[in-house]
Amino acid sequence: MNSGTAPRYGIGFASLLDEASRVPLSVTGIVPPSLVGTMYRIGPGRFQIGGHTVGHWLDGFALLSSVNFELHGVTCSNRFLASSWYRRALTEDAVPAGCFDSQSVHRGSHLSNDNANMNITIWRNELEALGDTPQSVLIDPTTLATIRTRPWAHLNRCCASSPHPVFDHLTGERFDLLLCNGDPAGYAITVTTPEGTTRRLCAFPSLRLGYMHSFSVTPRWVVLVEGPFTAYPRALSSSRHPYLRNYVWDAGRGSRILVVDRRTGVLKTTLSARPLFALHHINAWDDGDQVIVDLAAYADPSILDALAFDDGEVPAGDFPAPLATRLVIDLELERVLCSPLKCPPGEFCTLDGRFSMRPHTILFAAGPTRTGELINRLYRYDFTTDRLIEWSSDNCFPGAPIFVPAAADSQEGEGWLLTIVLDVLAKRSFVLILDAVTMTEQARAWFPYALPFGLHALFVPEEATT
Ligand SMILES: [Fe+2]
Repeated sequence: MNSGTAPRYGIGFASLLDEASRVPLSVTGIVPPSLVGTMYRIGPGRFQIGGHTVGHWLDGFALLSSVNFELHGVTCSNRFLASSWYRRALTEDAVPAGCFDSQSVHRGSHLSNDNANMNITIWRNELEALGDTPQSVLIDPTTLATIRTRPWAHLNRCCASSPHPVFDHLTGERFDLLLCNGDPAGYAITVTTPEGTTRRLCAFPSLRLGYMHSFSVTPRWVVLVEGPFTAYPRALSSSRHPYLRNYVWDAGRGSRILVVDRRTGVLKTTLSARPLFALHHINAWDDGDQVIVDLAAYADPSILDALAFDDGEVPAGDFPAPLATRLVIDLELERVLCSPLKCPPGEFCTLDGRFSMRPHTILFAAGPTRTGELINRLYRYDFTTDRLIEWSSDNCFPGAPIFVPAAADSQEGEGWLLTIVLDVLAKRSFVLILDAVTMTEQARAWFPYALPFGLHALFVPEEATT
């Protein structure tokens, strides 16, 4: 695919330097009247500093975007996350030390990197940006101003963390996964109560640590899937290599499935499975003596290399896409069955959040129309009927979809699907609103400019912010 010319989607990997506040968007179609609230999105948004380009897309400085759906129109805002890492970059006019996968003239551990460009969450009325180091960056939900970086001070010797905490909407608890290089070197899981009290649920040793972007929680268990892409714990907090380069893929190790009792913190079992690499778990639930975990599985971690800016050039593919894959973990027979689901390859899988931790039948995802392409379509898959409905549009590259239910008591998958799409011909982005049942367009709300490609997003209904 790399022909030596800039890919036509290159604008999606270009820096957006201007910040914006409450800019009106031009709307085509009709925004559903019940859709009132704010969509937030985060991702890398600036890739050059001091005349240098960062070495990897995930080293782009975190850019926050918000889209306000109000009764009288739609507005957007963009603001850079004022992390200490970004402020240091501006002061030094250079790529700071501690990169994900970029070289820096300075030496420093990735632990100092609070460029939280990977995920955005809201919990206990706090909007948080998250990366893969154990700290949260708190954001003002109205202005997108950075409030402060909050280190996860309750654990010593943590060198990395998952940017995807798991929230139990029934109990109000939050689970976080941390990678530690001591006390002991291995994995630690914390639970935070709805009142905000955090305790260490468990810590168990591991000679090597897996690249663990997310994990699963069910009503009874916490499940870690450690693929054979691992690093020595001490290496993760050293400044010898960029963070990613500490990990080594060794398919011969296979995958380890670690199942922890959610109530006691006891490691119930460690089972083996075929080698797989996953960034995102999709959903998990209990089924008698079985635990079902759905995740988006790649054959290997080459997606991370595919997002490198080799010699300052934007990624030119191929871009592998993961397959939604089901792990059936049988605790009685102590075995794991691992099989792909029938839906097409796709990332950023999302479901109706009301079915979190229980069986779902509808899955939404963003994927390529052809192997190796960048994400250029959205789909809805119904596992009860095997019905696939797609959305795509010429020259358009959608990001992570978000599902918003039509009403609290509506059926599974009935509501709206939102995402930010880049139209590379128009050189503008728009918020796409689809009817989530039919995948038909309801509206496009056009930004007056192109937004760089992003990562995760969320929608906060108006009543949740007042
Ligand atoms: Fe993620």
